[in-house]
Amino acid sequence: MKNKKIIIIGGGVIGLGIGWQLTKSGTDVTIYDSAEAGRAASWAAAGMLAPLAEAHTEEPDLLNLGCESLALYPKWVSELESDAKMSVGFRVEGTLIVGLESDDTHQLRHLYQAQQQLGLNVNWLSGGEVREIESALSPRVSAAIQCETDYQVDNRLMVTALKTAYLNNGGVLHENSPIEKIHTKDCHVEGIETQDGFQPAEIVILSAGCWSSQVNGIPDEFCPPVRPVKGQMMALQMEDGISINSVIRTVRARYPTSVYLVPRTDGRLIIGATSEEMGYDTRITVGGMFELLRGAWEAVPGVYELPILETWTGLRPGSRDNAPILGKTPIENLIYATGHYRNGILLTPITAYEISKLVLSGNTSDALKSFQLDRFLE
Ligand code: GLY
Repeated sequence: MKNKKIIIIGGGVIGLGIGWQLTKSGTDVTIYDSAEAGRAASWAAAGMLAPLAEAHTEEPDLLNLGCESLALYPKWVSELESDAKMSVGFRVEGTLIVGLESDDTHQLRHLYQAQQQLGLNVNWLSGGEVREIESALSPRVSAAIQCETDYQVDNRLMVTALKTAYLNNGGVLHENSPIEKIHTKDCHVEGIETQDGFQPAEIVILSAGCWSSQVNGIPDEFCPPVRPVKGQMMALQMEDGISINSVIRTVRARYPTSVYLVPRTDGRLIIGATSEEMGYDTRITVGGMFELLRGAWEAVPGVYELPILETWTGLRPGSRDNAPILGKTPIENLIYATGHYRNGILLTPITAYEISKLVLSGNTSDALKSFQLDRFLE
């Protein structure tokens, strides 16, 4: 498949990651993005690589996929940093999941037991023990789960690095180029229709995040069931007197929003995120900001003094069962790499490595088998 033309629809970290891997093997790749590449969910994310902290015990396949992708991260980062000649801010301080009230502690205990049953590498800490690790935590923090092997990457740096590495390898990128439709004939992909006319392709990969279900030309029954799930976020500037090194997540049994605080090497402190079913609405609301600030302030009271640098929203591509949709479809040579929901940054390496292998070999690996579209088809 090396000499054939591959078109990727969507230039977020997933599309760029697949494109970068394919161009490394000399494949002819063109990416189309309807706006600026990497500026949607990939830019909005917090960059947490947290399969343990975000583990839902009822989703064991997704947990395994997340752990497998996390294990690939050191290799991915060193390969990417070397190709793009820049750092992507990979940090390994781990995650602390903290609770403040007895209800939270019960919820934490339940999560801890489930994590232990799954054999995950987690530690239970008292309030005093967790404050020894992060002294900025509130005296109200009563207990915590330490996930030492949950890491973080600076997703915005990763976007820049992927774009650089992809373009350096000869990849073609068309930004602000919405596609009109995917052309299919007899259940076989022929190419895409762009604003500049028909572009033939041997393989089309759809990685357009929450817009993947909006692309014309795919029969309704094979459309990826992906919807936007809004997240509101903000960034504060850490100043002298407040220093946080770990990713901190709160469990708040009585409140609608549990928050996370993600410290960046450049001194930014990212706070996220709401989770709202609001369609494609990206407005910032008072309620959203209030929930973030309350959650962050309860866990780390010192944030009260910090300046706000930025507020933003992103749209997570949520599938019907929260897991990504990866691999072949009933339309020959149309491949999906979408629906990564809360785990897009975490799942980028495994998606890029496995989808590029699929393109080059034509074979679906075991890693992809349970994530194909066919799980939604009758
Ligand atoms: N993975 C974090 C979020 O979706 O908010």
